[in-house]
Amino acid sequence: MRVDGVATAQASPEPTALPTNVPDPAHGPQKRRLGLRARVTTAFALGALALSSVLAGIGYVAVRTSIVNQQLASMRHQALANAVLLRGELRVPTAYIPALITTLDSGPNTDSLIYSTKHWYPSSATLSPRQLPQALKVHVLAGSPAWQVIGSSGIAQLVVGVPIHAQSASRSENAAYFEIFDLSDLTRTLHTLLAALTLAALITTVAGAVLGRWAAGRALRPLRETTQAALAIAGGRLDTRLESAYFADLAPFASAFNQMVDQLQERIEREARFTSDVNHELRSPLTTLANSLSVLEARRDELPPRALQALDLLGAEVRRFRRLVDELLEISRFDATPGDISRDEVTVGSLVEHTVQATGADVPVRFAPGVASQHILVDKRRFERIFANLFENAQRYAGGVTLLAIEDHGDSVRFLVEDAGPGIAPEERDRIFERFSRGSTGRRRGLGDGTGLGLAIVAQHVNQHGGRVWVEDRLGGGSRFVVELPAWSEVVT
Ligand SMILES: Nc1ncnc2c1ncn2[C@@H]1O[C@H](COP(=O)(O)OP(=O)(O)OP(=O)(O)O)[C@@H](O)[C@H]1O
Ligand SMILES: [Mg+2]
Repeated sequence: MRVDGVATAQASPEPTALPTNVPDPAHGPQKRRLGLRARVTTAFALGALALSSVLAGIGYVAVRTSIVNQQLASMRHQALANAVLLRGELRVPTAYIPALITTLDSGPNTDSLIYSTKHWYPSSATLSPRQLPQALKVHVLAGSPAWQVIGSSGIAQLVVGVPIHAQSASRSENAAYFEIFDLSDLTRTLHTLLAALTLAALITTVAGAVLGRWAAGRALRPLRETTQAALAIAGGRLDTRLESAYFADLAPFASAFNQMVDQLQERIEREARFTSDVNHELRSPLTTLANSLSVLEARRDELPPRALQALDLLGAEVRRFRRLVDELLEISRFDATPGDISRDEVTVGSLVEHTVQATGADVPVRFAPGVASQHILVDKRRFERIFANLFENAQRYAGGVTLLAIEDHGDSVRFLVEDAGPGIAPEERDRIFERFSRGSTGRRRGLGDGTGLGLAIVAQHVNQHGGRVWVEDRLGGGSRFVVELPAWSEVVT
């Protein structure tokens, strides 16, 4: 069903959070902005990420440098020690180099090569002198120790070369010792360290986001409470004040807010009292006027035609004035005592029957299955006023009510007042529920005695029941006023 104009959006009496990010139809869809809480959370998370990344980066570089230097130094030291050992052994004329190489102290993932008498002696069959970097080889064979880290297909190795000047009775030669260390353990350790530091940075980021969310939630709590208080005040609960412990740090703000509401409440009450007093004061002269008019009307026959015309005009104006005063009095009562409503629990069937009888309208009624026995909490007098106004409008502007339908909508009951009149233009559907607002049908000649307060009174009464009222098109022409009231779920036995 299409809902065209809703007089009050107060479906629940409890204040609800203000809607945010409502697109402005006049300026097209707006860019979605993050809420304050989301922004604080993001700032904390990004801050934590930046800080932990910098710390992790510095930590990684420092530890990596220290471990790598230490490991490489110890490997070079080992190669040097083996070279010294070898020099001693090579002095022995009968030294058998292939056997010598197995006696050297080298680790499990370490290979060695000895260069002596223009021959290469590798520690394993798969090892070849071609695996040694050419520049390093030349450098070492020229007589200077050297080392170099090489990497092939992701596997890093340290090659250390030490020249040996071995002199014996049988030979004097420039030998050299090369040791190749596998660095994959070191690389693995560094990878594990990097993974641990990255994980720590991520955990810190998540912790930062959680902390930010919690801090923002706490910091924004007074703002949320203020919003709720403002909504409650806007909804008519003028005795609402900021008193919770969250305002201990914001005492001047809470006191200024409460002071403002005090003044607002006092002013509204004073104005409501004033309107009510004015209306009361207007009633007595009006009664005198109406009584005098009855006297004159009783003697119509004695009056000349021009005086009769004047009497009819006066009669119409006095009736209109009296209606205006009655309606203003009713409205000023809402303003003076917004929450003043006395509800009774009744079945929908008996309530509708009673209301139709009391208004004296000839209205066809149709109940949806089961809805007549449903219970509802209403102020019967206000309910009657709602439908008296709607029936009267239908009679005045649309030739009478064609149907009063009652529908069950789960947690609400809808009362539909239909007529086959001219209907209400879409652009007027919200406005006719405002005070002193008359639609184009109401301004037509011959229908000029309305004050434009009837539907405003309807909206107020419905609002006080926590319901909604709107108008829409009726199928087949005319209008359909829909009054939606909350259903009473507990069945009384
Ligand atoms: N059933 C209806 N069909 C067409 N127009 C309607 C109907 N009911 C209300 N209206 C329009 O809505 C306007 C506002 O109605 P409302 O009852 O608030 O004021 P009113 O009838 O003009 O004055 P009063 O205060 O005496 O009721 C009317 O002037 C009329 O134009
Ligand atoms: Mg009316």
